[in-house]
Amino acid sequence: MESNRSRLAVYPGSFDPLTNGHVDIIERGARLFDRIVIAILVNLDKQPLFSPEERKDILREVFRSKPNVEIETFNGLLVDYAEDRKADVIVRGLRAISDFEYEMQMALMNRRLNREIETVFMMPDERYTYLSSRLAKEVFALGGSISGLVPELVESRLRSKNIQHN
Ligand code: PNS
Repeated sequence: MESNRSRLAVYPGSFDPLTNGHVDIIERGARLFDRIVIAILVNLDKQPLFSPEERKDILREVFRSKPNVEIETFNGLLVDYAEDRKADVIVRGLRAISDFEYEMQMALMNRRLNREIETVFMMPDERYTYLSSRLAKEVFALGGSISGLVPELVESRLRSKNIQHN
């Protein structure tokens, strides 16, 4: 890694939908690195609630005022995408010990695939330790409040999807 050029980080994920835990990690990453690219995985096997374009649109809107935060979609291997983008670092959030095993497996597999790209873990604010996109969707669908857990834009997009069951 050359020291006199700007550091680019990639923050990959499904973001279905974006939570305030993701927002917290992105803000930390944007302070630590010169640029951070949010890379939304287009996973054709999964049935997402929000299409990749909808997720991209939400992220663009939420980070509109942050010039060093870019939003893209990717498919295929993450390390290939990171290499194409000439990224130095993959950023992942670690909420709790329960995340550790899966994250370590991915980080070490990614290192095996490409030794040039480092994975950096960051811990979100403790308010978001128990938060996941899956739980936010479930609580919302069952009529519980997710206020403060996702950006307001995500709440309004969820409302317009009419997925509440009660
Ligand atoms: O938000 P998620 O679902 O925890 O993100 C998982 C993600 C997108 C980081 C992971 O599934 C991924 O990197 N997928 C791309 C395919 C790939 O590179 N697989 C090998 C990882 S070791």
